[in-house]
Amino acid sequence: MSSKQVNEIYKSTDNIVDLKITILVDDHQGANNLHYEHGLSFWIEADEHSFLFDTGVGEALLPNAKTLNVDLRKAESVILSHGHYDHTGALDRVLQVNPRVKIYCHPGVVLPRYSIRPENIKYAGMQPEIRMAMDSLPEGQIQWQAGSIELIPGLGLTGAIPRHSNFEDTGGPFYLDQAKTQPDLLEDDQAIWIKTTQGLIIVLGCCHSGLVNTVDYIKQLTGEDKIHTIIGGMHLLYASEERLDKTSDALENWQVEQLIPCHCTGEEVIPRFEQRFPEAFVNSQVGASFSFGIS
Ligand SMILES: [Fe+2]
Ligand SMILES: [Fe+2]
Repeated sequence: MSSKQVNEIYKSTDNIVDLKITILVDDHQGANNLHYEHGLSFWIEADEHSFLFDTGVGEALLPNAKTLNVDLRKAESVILSHGHYDHTGALDRVLQVNPRVKIYCHPGVVLPRYSIRPENIKYAGMQPEIRMAMDSLPEGQIQWQAGSIELIPGLGLTGAIPRHSNFEDTGGPFYLDQAKTQPDLLEDDQAIWIKTTQGLIIVLGCCHSGLVNTVDYIKQLTGEDKIHTIIGGMHLLYASEERLDKTSDALENWQVEQLIPCHCTGEEVIPRFEQRFPEAFVNSQVGASFSFGIS
């Protein structure tokens, strides 16, 4: 697809009028009766539709959903941001409570993958039981999507995100094999865009494609320049100073009104954002909800 074809393909789409995003799983502690873990999951209510974006590692999602009065049986789709274990680990449990829910993901989510550091080799991909649960589903229940797709008018998935900024990498020691012969570029990484009267709401999983690449692509896809909120994991833990500076400059240029860094953004990076964007910055915590779009 040429850049001209990609440009503004969802421009004429409607706004979501009533939007609420709840953090079901995150690394950041919320109320005492909620679990937290190194993982991410959001509950997205968009007009009369409900979506689950990622599932966390496994243990936290179902009890947190119950405590927060989120009925996972109402999810019409589960969207996977990518195949890492900390985003896909409760998918089997979700399928137990909502067996017919549709799943949207890139075909690469099922790849075996590793995080390899000098001190250890860690399997970082989807756990075998999750793969088995997916394999047992009837044909058509999983929508394999490498490209962008609009789920409902005003809410879409990016699919694989083109990488053209020269300062963003996948930000980690990721490989597809234990021998480190094949770097894992996390091509399955995708984000959600939502159009509202307030501007775009961008929901990230781990943002392995880079924040600038992701936002630039969403602006192209939607033809929308105004970005109201960015929420999700920004994976900047291993980012260079140059990357952090350029990412912050981009956030300033976009005039983001609300910045909610979650999960893997990096515990040293989060205070930096808070300092640079004191008005836009919002602390993430499990159980927090954000409402948008009602004019
Ligand atoms: Fe993650
Ligand atoms: Fe990840």
